[in-house]
Amino acid sequence: MFIRTGGVVAAGFLLTPLLACGEDPVRTTIAVSHSSTDDTATIQVSGLEKPLVVLHITDAHISVADRREAQYQRYASRMDNAYGKEREHWRTKKKTTTATHFLDLLASAKDRNVDLIALTGDIINNPSQSSAQFISKALKETGIRWLYIAGNHDWHYEGMAGSDDALRRTWTHESLLPLHPGQNPLCYAVRIGGINFVALDNSTYQVTVEQLAFYEKEIVRGLPTVLLLHIPLYTPANAGKHVSDSCGHPSWGWETDRNFAIERRERWPKSGNLQSTTEFVQRVRKTGNLVAVLAGHTHKARTDKLSDSAVQYVAQATCDGGSRLITFAPLASDKK
Ligand SMILES: [Fe+2]
Repeated sequence: MFIRTGGVVAAGFLLTPLLACGEDPVRTTIAVSHSSTDDTATIQVSGLEKPLVVLHITDAHISVADRREAQYQRYASRMDNAYGKEREHWRTKKKTTTATHFLDLLASAKDRNVDLIALTGDIINNPSQSSAQFISKALKETGIRWLYIAGNHDWHYEGMAGSDDALRRTWTHESLLPLHPGQNPLCYAVRIGGINFVALDNSTYQVTVEQLAFYEKEIVRGLPTVLLLHIPLYTPANAGKHVSDSCGHPSWGWETDRNFAIERRERWPKSGNLQSTTEFVQRVRKTGNLVAVLAGHTHKARTDKLSDSAVQYVAQATCDGGSRLITFAPLASDKK
């Protein structure tokens, strides 16, 4: 795939916010070019000073449990069993555990001098403290900076009483904080190498008013922005086989929730999407300084063109050895 995007180059965007408060960020279109395979992407961004290499890991579906977790086994067993057997690597066909696929990728990140590891959720099958500690320890040992955002399984013990929002709040704080050092687990932003990485937890399929406000605050900085999400954003072209494949699907709600009984969770509401979710999805597609969305959830590598500047990259699941190595580079035509 090769897409040359953008048109209006916003001079000086690397150093200073371009927009006054309230001004429409849609005007800040950054020139970007995208080329990709199912394992790689090169995203050339006007104004970048040097390349930045990011390894995108998602949906590793690892379970680790020690004696602390015995009391939660009845909430964890379905997912633990589903991913407990060795799985074939989608390229090499080597059969091994999900944890080994993950550790192999971390080793490759070190070999390739990756600058940043971006993890977009469902890294673990349920919020056992042992699983979260296994992941954070392995990440720390790479010495590579990482950014993590939760998926719908990371905080969910199936069948445990409580709304999705309440369970996410509880188990994020019980188990997932080591993966979020010093960050707000629901939304945070980090600027690295001239790019603003904005991570937003949409693992309940919804985006709150507060998260939408956070996104608005970040995009008016005018920097080239990369959004990390678990659930890919809906576009009419990528609706997927089921409503559960995307965030912001217009039909999302009580009638279309086919998995609540299997996953033993709260059924989606009769009221459907929050207004803030619908607005967020529309807003993203009008953000001229957004260059990429990195997401997972559906386990199959693909790309979706979101706007003149942005492509949504969904990576192959790491439980099957998948990942995407993304190089952000200065735009070649800048040099001419
Ligand atoms: Fe997921």
